Amino acid sequence: MPSIFFKESKLFVLPKVYEPSDDSFLLAENVKVKEKESVFDLGTGSGIQGINAAMQKAEKVVSTDVNETALLNAEKNAKALGFEKIFEFRKGNLFDCLKKEEKFDVIVFNPPYVISEEKKYKDLDGGVRGREVLDEFLKGFAKHLKKGGKCFFLQTSLNGEEESVKLLEEQGFEAKVVARKRLFFEELLVFRVLKAI
Ligand SMILES: C[S@@+](CC[C@H](N)C(=O)[O-])C[C@H]1O[C@@H](n2cnc3c(N)ncnc32)[C@H](O)[C@@H]1O
Repeated sequence: MPSIFFKESKLFVLPKVYEPSDDSFLLAENVKVKEKESVFDLGTGSGIQGINAAMQKAEKVVSTDVNETALLNAEKNAKALGFEKIFEFRKGNLFDCLKKEEKFDVIVFNPPYVISEEKKYKDLDGGVRGREVLDEFLKGFAKHLKKGGKCFFLQTSLNGEEESVKLLEEQGFEAKVVARKRLFFEELLVFRVLKAI
């Protein structure tokens, strides 16, 4: 079974599950979780973002994905690293798996942002501007974030940086790009959004 190394730990990657790449690592490097915080790992894939939170001593991680195999994969990795007690794995689309009033200290999402005519690959394809899932996420995360909470998400410059800033500002958030990585024809961006009130 293919595997990768993350912070010196081995993570398995099952077939049909997103193999952590530059985007996953850039996001993980910039996600800061404090001890005892609760984390929502949206689009968990192999589980890398949730595991990163567990490594930073999160108290609880809820991981979700539309892909059932990804959830099995993430669970396998969390168990292999001894983190299973703090994890919950729930299948669903975006915030579907959460109760209306369920809130977290930290929300992390590396969405499918690739510009694509059809949506064939759920781990990659984000529609014509690569924003289909991203925009839904940006409109929905705030009600599941605690006061004082932080949301981290990744996108590429090809999706439009300003569009994300605008969507966040319209909701009263100050958006900050905390990391950038230049790739061949695009730039990966990590956004951090703080919920002050
Ligand atoms: C780019 S991969 C990221 C995987 C992992 N978090 C990482 O950083 O490597 C996007 C993940 O989001 C999942 N996904 C796509 N659309 C989703 C949706 N609407 N709701 C929940 N998960 C979704 C995909 O199945 C895939 O596992």
